[in-house]
Amino acid sequence: MRRIGANLLILSLSGCRGAQSALAPAGEAAEHIATLYYWMVGSATVIWLLVIGLATFSIFSKKVYQRRVTGTLVIGGGAVFPTLILTGLLCYGLQMLPELNSPAPAGSLVIEVSGVRWWWRIRYLEQGREPVELANELVLPVNEPIEFKLNSEDVIHSFWIPSLGGKIDMFPGRRTRLKLLPLREGNYRGVCAEYCGTAHALMAFDVRVVSRAEFNQWLAGQYQSAREPLDDISRRGQHLFLSRGCSACHAIRGTRADGVVGPDLTHVGSRATIAASLLPNNVEQFHYWLVATSEIKPGAEMPQFDMLEPDEADALARYLRQLK
Ligand code: CUA
Repeated sequence: MRRIGANLLILSLSGCRGAQSALAPAGEAAEHIATLYYWMVGSATVIWLLVIGLATFSIFSKKVYQRRVTGTLVIGGGAVFPTLILTGLLCYGLQMLPELNSPAPAGSLVIEVSGVRWWWRIRYLEQGREPVELANELVLPVNEPIEFKLNSEDVIHSFWIPSLGGKIDMFPGRRTRLKLLPLREGNYRGVCAEYCGTAHALMAFDVRVVSRAEFNQWLAGQYQSAREPLDDISRRGQHLFLSRGCSACHAIRGTRADGVVGPDLTHVGSRATIAASLLPNNVEQFHYWLVATSEIKPGAEMPQFDMLEPDEADALARYLRQLK
């Protein structure tokens, strides 16, 4: 029994840290939200103890009280006290809103994110430059406010990086926005927080918060065209990519592939994961994803390429993995 209790405690506490925890804040908004959460849990605990204490006392007390005393207790404890506490918490929560809702100052980095069943289209909109598109990964400079423009290409999704801030819905045909200010470098995870269909739970993205210098270097790399195949197997992979229909949906800048339906794969080999934060990024997993897509992500728009010979799938996997 004691062991079950200890395991339950470990399980419940393990949600308090890690790359996807609102209780391990690494952003300004997330810190406000975590503080509000602790105030609410603290207040609720005190009230619960008070109520349990009073209930226990009343059960065991033999004394008979006058109506006046009990009336005061009921009105005080049942109406006045909750009104004061709830109003206090409401005001505390409301005073956070203007700051959390304000847009990032002019000149801040702007990133457009679209929810798509079941992945994320990401565009970095730098002033005076063509937008650069990638998918399922955000790299952000630390200590700088970032303005997110959010929308959806199909159904309602919801954009949420628990470690950095609050969540906001993404609607088709409408734009919502969110400001985030990452305060600590590190690796975090974003998720979709609105049920959007079969693969809702398999729609995540990686977030890397880095120094300004590292960010500049990374972004400059994203603007580059794709790297040429490094060896004969990768060259065969590129040929298969262009001849077997992949390029109808996917773009690889610097090649003939200019599809816009699926994720841009120009630098897919440099991402931390593949398939919207579902699989580690290596040749074996690329191979697995290509031939077992519908088993890995039921409902995915991408058809399963299980008609490929193993050496063909391997060549494709090697080509994609070296697109760094
Ligand atoms: Cu997208 Cu849930």
